[in-house]
Amino acid sequence: MTALSIVPTRPTDTSSPAVSPVPASAPIPRLWGRYLNLDDFEAAARRRLPHAIYGYASGGAADGGAIRSNRDVFGRWHFVTRILRDVASRTPARTLFGHRYDVPFGIAPMGASAVAAFDADLRMARAARAANLPFVLSANSITPMEAVTAVNPDIWFAAYLPPDPAHIEGMLARVAAAGVRVLVVTADVPAGSNREAERRNGYTMPIRLTPRLIADGITHPHWLLGTAARTVARQGVPVISNIQPRGGPGLFSRQVSFIGGDGAFTWDHVRQIRRSWQGTLVLKGILSPADARLARQHGVDGIVVSNHGGRQLDGAASPMDVLGAIRDESGDMAVLVDSGFRRGGDILKALALGADFVLIGRPFLYAAALAGEPGLRHAAALLRREIDLDMAQLGLASLEEIGPDCLLERATMQ
Ligand SMILES: Cc1cc2nc3c(=O)[nH]c(=O)nc-3n(C[C@H](O)[C@H](O)[C@H](O)COP(=O)(O)O)c2cc1C
Repeated sequence: MTALSIVPTRPTDTSSPAVSPVPASAPIPRLWGRYLNLDDFEAAARRRLPHAIYGYASGGAADGGAIRSNRDVFGRWHFVTRILRDVASRTPARTLFGHRYDVPFGIAPMGASAVAAFDADLRMARAARAANLPFVLSANSITPMEAVTAVNPDIWFAAYLPPDPAHIEGMLARVAAAGVRVLVVTADVPAGSNREAERRNGYTMPIRLTPRLIADGITHPHWLLGTAARTVARQGVPVISNIQPRGGPGLFSRQVSFIGGDGAFTWDHVRQIRRSWQGTLVLKGILSPADARLARQHGVDGIVVSNHGGRQLDGAASPMDVLGAIRDESGDMAVLVDSGFRRGGDILKALALGADFVLIGRPFLYAAALAGEPGLRHAAALLRREIDLDMAQLGLASLEEIGPDCLLERATMQ
């Protein structure tokens, strides 16, 4: 009898498959070696941007404790892998608000993005469309929302609304006419916050051209020519063009000293918005299960569990710490989460705890500042690749299979 020899028909080492099941948005070769993960964008942005601008983007409230705990919190959970499941053709796609996205994450709203990155609003919108992920345009942006929906009809809009019913109706009419279907109301800015880093670095709104700020700009020529001068040459002094039903204040105008929420904006106004707004309504900035319950009672379609990236209240709970309890109160509402997500594994941990989707802020702003639209697409592709590889380790062919059984909480480890 001759011994049977079994010849493998597939490569036995699948740790880094020659053909990755990550097709649409593969990392961009020119950027591949320089930026291997989202934190690499931050390190490069720190060098590239003036101190005042980098401090504005990276900073948080007071001592920055909330920013640190937003990162540390992920160490609370470890993954429990599953083996020998068929994960050869897996997908990180996820459906949210009736749209099938290629990935379970999107770009969070960031005001004044154009101060850090040339044409940030349009570039983020285009890159998001190319990668089929959501982009949330901030009310504090300089490109009129009508121009942004022209390049990406699927953008969401994040409004800061005052307690004035006529203003609210005017804004809702404008947003609807622009074709936006998902309205995010940011609710965690009842007042400005204590941003000491901004004051230390000379960042002010309205922008004041102090000798120090001018020196900061001159010593960062890439930003000075590539972002500041280019923006002014194209459109003159930028205007915050999406904060009002019509028009808006210029970046040097006194009117922009504080553009955010309003201390007198309450659940009554959410009720008014729900009555008038026919589209999807999302409330952003929830950290309490009681507020999640109220959001549900007010007919909200989705919430963003968020501490605003640690920018509002130092010592605020990290969204990951309250996510499970909030999910329990959320019923049919979609639960999104943000603040401190930097790795594909972070995103999967949130999904395992019951989140439907994750938003990511600063890294996308840095990517736009460093490498424009290709940088944004590269950042999205890196994250998508990390999710893909982690899904394989976890034995997940689709995100519908993810759940708490993928996780072990540190406190329970022997
Ligand atoms: C520069 C900057 C500007 C922001 N502006 C807004 C804004 O206008 N509206 C809003 O809802 N959130 C705003 N945020 C908060 C983000 O939407 C998001 O909650 C936060 O950045 C997520 O944390 P991460 O940056 O650690 O990913 C801003 C964040 C940054 C970094």
